[in-house]
Order: sequence, then C-alpha cells, then structure tokens
Amino acid sequence: MKTLFYAICCVGLLWPSGLRAAEDDESMNRFVSSLLKKMTLEEKIGQLSQCAGGFATGPDNTQLSRTTDISRGLLGSMLNVSGAAETRKYQEAAMKSRLKIPLLFGLDVIHGFRTGFPLPLAEAASFDLEAIKMGARCSAREAAAAGLHWTFAPMVDISWDARWGRVMEGAGEDPYYGAKVAAARVRGLQGDDLSADSTILACIKHFVGYGAAVAGKDYNSVDMSWGHFANFYMPPYKAGVEAGAGTVMSAFNDFENRPCTGNEDLLRGLLKEKWGFQGFVVSDWGSVGEMVNHRYAKDQKEAANKAITAGLDMEMVSECYARNLADLVREKKVPEALLDDAVRRILEQKYKLGLFDDPFRYCNEERERTVIGSERSRREARYMAERSVVLLKNEGAMLPLASSVRRVALIGGLSKSQKDMCGSWTCADESKVVTLYEAMQKRGVEVDFHEGYDLESNEIKDLKGTLKAARRADVVVVAMGERAWESGEMTSKGNISIPEQQQRLVTELVKAGKPVIVLMMCGRPVIFNEVRQQAPAILCTWWLGSEAGSAICNVLWGDYNPSGKLPMTFPTHQGQLPLYYQYKSTGRPYASSGWCAKYIDIPSEPAFPFAFGLSYTTFEYSALKVLPGDGGKVHARVRVEVKNTGRYEGEEVVQLYVRDESASITRPVKELKGFEKIALKPGEGKEVVFDITDEQLGFYDNRMNFVVEKGDFTFMVGTNSRDVDAVSYTLL
Ligand code: NOJ
Repeated sequence: MKTLFYAICCVGLLWPSGLRAAEDDESMNRFVSSLLKKMTLEEKIGQLSQCAGGFATGPDNTQLSRTTDISRGLLGSMLNVSGAAETRKYQEAAMKSRLKIPLLFGLDVIHGFRTGFPLPLAEAASFDLEAIKMGARCSAREAAAAGLHWTFAPMVDISWDARWGRVMEGAGEDPYYGAKVAAARVRGLQGDDLSADSTILACIKHFVGYGAAVAGKDYNSVDMSWGHFANFYMPPYKAGVEAGAGTVMSAFNDFENRPCTGNEDLLRGLLKEKWGFQGFVVSDWGSVGEMVNHRYAKDQKEAANKAITAGLDMEMVSECYARNLADLVREKKVPEALLDDAVRRILEQKYKLGLFDDPFRYCNEERERTVIGSERSRREARYMAERSVVLLKNEGAMLPLASSVRRVALIGGLSKSQKDMCGSWTCADESKVVTLYEAMQKRGVEVDFHEGYDLESNEIKDLKGTLKAARRADVVVVAMGERAWESGEMTSKGNISIPEQQQRLVTELVKAGKPVIVLMMCGRPVIFNEVRQQAPAILCTWWLGSEAGSAICNVLWGDYNPSGKLPMTFPTHQGQLPLYYQYKSTGRPYASSGWCAKYIDIPSEPAFPFAFGLSYTTFEYSALKVLPGDGGKVHARVRVEVKNTGRYEGEEVVQLYVRDESASITRPVKELKGFEKIALKPGEGKEVVFDITDEQLGFYDNRMNFVVEKGDFTFMVGTNSRDVDAVSYTLL
C-alpha cells in the first residue's frame, strides 16, 4: 500500500495532470457506481440498446418505439440522427426518464462532416499524419457542433483485395502504416479532452479482420490464423486502442469460426483483458441478431447470451438484448454482473463527454451555424485534398501546366458532378462542393467542356465534337474512372477495370495530338492498362470532397506539387487479386520463368507498387548506411541522403523497409517499418535517419508473443516499395 502511495506521489510530482486524471477517474467511478445502484434491470438493458433514427444504413429492423422508449429509459443511444435541433429533441425526451441518463448520438462521420474531406484511402495517400489528424479534428469539430458525440470511425481494417468496396474507408494495405493512421485519426477525433465541445468519441472498427473477407466479397467469412492476424491485421486495431479510442465495433464476419460479435476470445480475451481496453464495444448494425444467420445461435435469445458473454456491450439496431437479456438474467443464464460491467463502460464514456454535467452540451444551434462550413474547414479540406493526389505518370514533364495554358478541353461528366466529388458514404453538403469545372473557370482559363462518355452507360458520346474540342485546346484534361457510389459498403466488384469505352475515348483523344492529362477518379485501386500505357500524364485524384476542384486545379497548375503515394498496390489484372507488396517468402520465389510462384497468362508485377507516387521534381537517394545504435533501445540507425535534383520545391516520402533474413516463422519479403515526409527546395539535400528498435525487427510468433530474434536483416530505403537500395545488418 505504501509503495502504491509513493508511486502516486511521484507521478504527481513529475506529472501533475496524471494525478488529476486519477482524481477524475475516482469521481467518475463514484458517480457511475452510485448511478448503477439506482438502475433497474430494464434500465440497464436500455443503456445497452441503440436504435436508428433518421435513416437506415443497413437492413432496417428497428422495432422500438423511439421517443416513448427514450423517455422510459429503455434506450441508451441513437445512430443516424444529427443536427443541434434534432438531437436536442431526443435528448429532451431522455431527460424525462426516471434517471435522466443522457442519450449518446452516433453517426458514420467518415471523411469530414458537412465540409467533405477526401476519402480515407485518399487521405492515407498523403503519408502525412499531421494532416490526417487535422482532417479528423475538423470532422469532430463540425460533427460536435451538430449534436453528435460519437463517430463510427476510423475504420482500420487492412485489406489486400481491391474488389472489396470498403477499401475506400481505410488506410490501405499496410499494417505498420495503418497503425500510425489509426492512432492519428483517434487523436484527431478525441483530442486531449473528450468533454470539449469540439471533440467526439472515436470507434475502432471492425474488430476484427473484416478487410479479409474471402474473395473481397463484403460480409463474407474470414479465415485466418491468430499468427497471421497478429502480424498483418492486428496492428491498427491495437494502435487505435492504445491511442485511447473510447469505443470499438465488432465486425460482421467470423474469426476462427466464431462471429466476432459473439467471440469471447476476441472481445473479452484480447481486447479487454490483454489490451486492458476500458471503453465499450458496440456491435455492427444488427450483427447480434445476424449470429442466427451465421448459424452460430439458434435464436435471438441465444445470440444475446453469446454476445453479452463474449463482452459485446452495446447492441446496434437488432433487439436481441432488449427482448431477451432480462429473461436470461432472471433464468440465471447470464449473471447480472456482466450487464453491470457493460453499463458501467457506457456510462463512463457519457461521463467523459461531459453529458452528465450538461446533456445539451453539443446541441448548440449558434455554434452549429458558425462552425459548420467555416472558412477554416474549407481551407483544411483543400489542404488535405491537395496532399491526397498521387501523380502516377508525367511523360516529358507535361505537368505542371504552364501559366500560358489558357484553353482547356475538359472531358468527362465527373468533372462537373458535385455528388461524385464528395465520394461515397459522405455527410458533406453537396451543394457546396467546388467541382473541377467550376474551379477551372474561376482560374480564368477558357474551358471547353464535353461529356465524352455517358456516366450511366459509359458509351462514348459525341466523339466528333469531343475530338474537335481537343484539337482546338492547349491541353486536354479527362476526368474518368468509377462513380463515387461504386465504392463503399456493399459494393464489392468482380471486375475493377475501368470500362473499355472510357479507355477507348482516351486512346482517341491521344491520337488527336494534344497533351492529354488523365484524372483517375476512384475509391479503390482500379485497372486501366490502355490508359496507363497511352496517356502521357496521369493523376490519381480519388474523391477529394468539398474542395476537390480547387485542389485538382492547384495540382494541375503546380501551385501544389503532388506528394501522395499509393496506400494500396494497383494491379494490372483481376487475376492478381488479392495483391500486396508484403507477400511472404516462399520455397519457390517469383522469377520470370521456371518452377516458381507466378502466373502463366498474366504478369505478376503490379501496375503501380505500394507507396508509388511521383513529383514534379526529382529526388536522388545516396549514401545509404547502417550506423551503430545508442547501446540501449536503438539497435542501429539507417541513414540516407535525399536530394532534390529537379526544378521545383517538393515533398518526398522516404521509406524504410525491413526483411528478416531467417526467422522461427516464415516472414514477408519486405515490410514498411518507417517513413518520413520531407520538404526540399531545388538543389537542397537532407539526411534522413531511421532508428532501428524492436518495432522494426520484431514480429508476433504463433502464440501472439512479440519476439525479436537475433540474426541477419536487410534494410531497404527508397521512394516506393519496389525501387529501393539495400544494406545488410546483423542483430547480435
Ligand atoms: C454497417 C457498417 O459496417 C458500419 O461500419 C457502420 O458504422 C454501421 N453500418 C452504421 O451505419
């Protein structure tokens, strides 16, 4: 006891806020315990139940009569309602309940709120963690001003399969980078103080492995070992939890033959016990009830039993808890202590948000008017959008466009489509989106717009007129790709190629003899081999949100020099999927011929490797070296010199990859283990140094222990996952 007292005092001296936090926790515990004692069984179950308000983001089977149940204390949370006035209405109903426990309002605020930000996958292309955090903070600021307490974001699922439409919502294929992005997003959303009126609760989803749905088919089952999970899929979930995320969402899929929603090893074992997660777990939409479809529960009662036993705290939409938990407790099949633990976790988050001090803290219409769509939000959205663009090709330094370029043939309806610019799963105010067409006009250039192809059927339209416009123009800019709705939930594809007619249009335009710049708009890696070969300049612009048009224009005319890198490998053929750079060393490694891991009918090489992206300037890497460490945690240091050898100021993402040359389990051919984004003026050089610690060298063994093994390693440094220089190192 004395030691504990001493430790607390020391912490207090060194870090007074630590002591304050402990005091805050103490008062929170007292408050929550006393509230819990007053609650009836039905009121407890109410806290574990969430229903959908305004609209449905899944099969709608909500049966609770909303307002009545709220005022009876039988609902703890609502999703899909927003707006200061709307949320106030429901909160007032909650204040009529016996214990006046405030409701928690949640929504999928995924990439910006009313001010739309680039798709999360696009933001990830920035490799700029500060910018990503800023984007999350802006979403939180706007969402909190609209009465929201909680977003179901970030989605941190790693995916190697571009057929899965939800890749647009994550940070791509790499677990190391995914972990950094997850932490940045959580910190951006929650800030340092959850009770501030500009921060909201984050939700790490989907726990776990949703991105590994077999064959990239949404909602499909998942088959992976714990060992595989630990090294390739787990890091972002863990990083999000360690960054302090207050909530976690269980995934629809199964893991190790049990639906995640009813998987005790995952929810109680790994998350709550091993990682010490103190927040609460919410199910995905209806996923408690869907355990019956999984044939893992014979009915909803058994599903409720399995979920609460597994550690699932709040049920989204299906009503297995509301209808069955009371009976399960009375029949002594479920101990009430399990419910108490779940309720405590939920009340604690409400407490941290400051809702017991003021349930209406976030329902402020005045703040809603000034914060949402503010000049600051727009500026931040534009900043993020510029950094999300990836330059894929720039033959003959066609880009940036000279200021003398006055007449542009702008081809493609996407360049005028406010809806598409927002991207899928958006909360953005469509009417406030700056399209590319509008931004070009604002720039004062003469824009000759032609649809080029029909956005619905992809049929080429008015080829003659389009080619005539191309011939008359200084440059031709073609906006093409997917529609925004083609990625997101429920949008898995068996074919991720850009339609043949769209590609043929580009071939015809190139033949017209004027410089052709392609803007590839997409929410996932897509295949466009003809365009890739024929168009001299290609920018991957994804879907960039409210400031899409301005950002694209700034990049085209060189006001911003693109610095993005692809967070997912782009394939050349569907048959390559799933495709990722960190495949494992095999007994018969890939070679161009012979008895090796390859296809006989398609190439094995991707169209663009992971972390590929060009700049208007050029960078030269030299003097790669391994230096000694510090004799402590830093085993060694890897140093490289990077010089801007081109004509423009630019930013480069310097990347470190590591290969373990011999280990107790099979390991990948290379893994990203460090990156630094640096800015260089023309002619300027910088030394970049990566510390090599356990994080760079270790891995999880098959029992989920993190181990660092002595032996040989190769360190690779370069501008993308393919083009690297290598040095050797031995850990003694
Ligand atoms: C289902 C999705 O999988 C999840 O990510 C989302 O948060 C919920 N629906 C609520 O819309």
